Amino acid sequence: MKGTEVIGSNFYFGGCDTVNLAKKYGTPLYVMSEDYICERCKEVRKDFLGKYENTRAVYASKAFLTLEMCRIIEREGLGIDVVSGGELYTAIKAGFPMEKVIFHGNNKTIDEIELAVKNNVGRMVVDNLYELELLNSVAQAFGKTMKILFRITPGVDSHTHKYISTGQVDSKFGIPLKGNIINEAIRRAMDASNIELMGFHFHVGSQLFDNASHIKAVKILVELMKDMKEKVGFITKELNTGGGFGIYYVEGDEPKPLKYFTDAVMNTIKEECGELGLYMPQVIIEPGRWMVGEAGITLYTVGSIKEIPGVRTYVGINGGLPDNPRPALYDAKYEAVVANKMDQEKNSLVTIAGKCCESGDILRYDLKVPMLESGDILAVKSTGAYNYSMASNYNKIPRPAVVMVKEGEDRIIVKRETYEDLLKNEL
Ligand code: LLP
Repeated sequence: MKGTEVIGSNFYFGGCDTVNLAKKYGTPLYVMSEDYICERCKEVRKDFLGKYENTRAVYASKAFLTLEMCRIIEREGLGIDVVSGGELYTAIKAGFPMEKVIFHGNNKTIDEIELAVKNNVGRMVVDNLYELELLNSVAQAFGKTMKILFRITPGVDSHTHKYISTGQVDSKFGIPLKGNIINEAIRRAMDASNIELMGFHFHVGSQLFDNASHIKAVKILVELMKDMKEKVGFITKELNTGGGFGIYYVEGDEPKPLKYFTDAVMNTIKEECGELGLYMPQVIIEPGRWMVGEAGITLYTVGSIKEIPGVRTYVGINGGLPDNPRPALYDAKYEAVVANKMDQEKNSLVTIAGKCCESGDILRYDLKVPMLESGDILAVKSTGAYNYSMASNYNKIPRPAVVMVKEGEDRIIVKRETYEDLLKNEL
């Protein structure tokens, strides 16, 4: 894993001794590497934004969002996509430029739409006709015109976990291409007084190692662009191709560089538009996991060690499902190391159990580790995406702190929750 090294017996991340971080800030602890995030941003600039004209990249903030993350993304020259009032509010509070924000969601509430309109959000990705009407009337009330994209369900199955596959026909997201709904939607958008339709959006799924579904979806969308030009006279100016680029979690995962996806997307759009005599639209990408997944690790402290003779050894850690629900939700696998025993031989096989009152709270089955003792520090890798952002307070467990590391320096960016925090809204 990039940005990691072993010095003596200890595991270092982003130039910092993780055993020291655990001592200094306590555990469980999310540790994010700013260097790693910036490197990803650089790759986006070099292999996409700098390589192709008329392109934009927005970070899908649902993967990991804090005020500091907004500031980093702004500094790095990317936009962000938000999917709720809370994510938008975070961006507003961070002073993120609103014209660089794209607002998603399959059922945005009126409050969320008002917040977006008031703050002049750059693009609304409209999911359905109900939302179109709502947005138009809110925009009218505020005397504004909102630029929109329609989210399209391209009918492409991305063969990832069912819960993170989004582009198939049977999906709660977007406007289906079956029937006449899309023609009607475009007509209504073109007629709407306070809406400016810019183009289309699709997102096929997440944690993908293959560009086939992106290519398929792009072809379907370019066909739609042609159709809509002919049938309703609509010229597509923007095409947002979503995110979904996979990362490394465990052995067997073979993530591809960004350009494997973006080159394929760009070449396909160019070819198809050329063949069909269409203008090349602005192309937008929305990577989330790929930007931050491998930029994060989580540190835990080992507590109870329970050997069931002939069955297995359970190692209890002081976190689990509330700070990382992904194993329970998606059967996600993670690699982990014992951060203070990197120089020791891995001669025991253990199962890492979370501390929730829930049998499904197993972080990892069958992990090879050195002889463990209570007090050892476990570092779980690739937890930068969809861990902090999906964390809960189940069992009234406070959420961990988040520390950002950069070239050997560490700084806290989110404080650890306290028991008082857990009760602050209770009467
Ligand atoms: N754009 C849209 C419209 C999306 O819905 C998503 C993810 C993305 C971009 C970013 O996708 P990414 O590059 O991160 O794959 N909680 C799940 C992942 C859900 C993804 C939902 N949408 C997980 O932990 O695997």
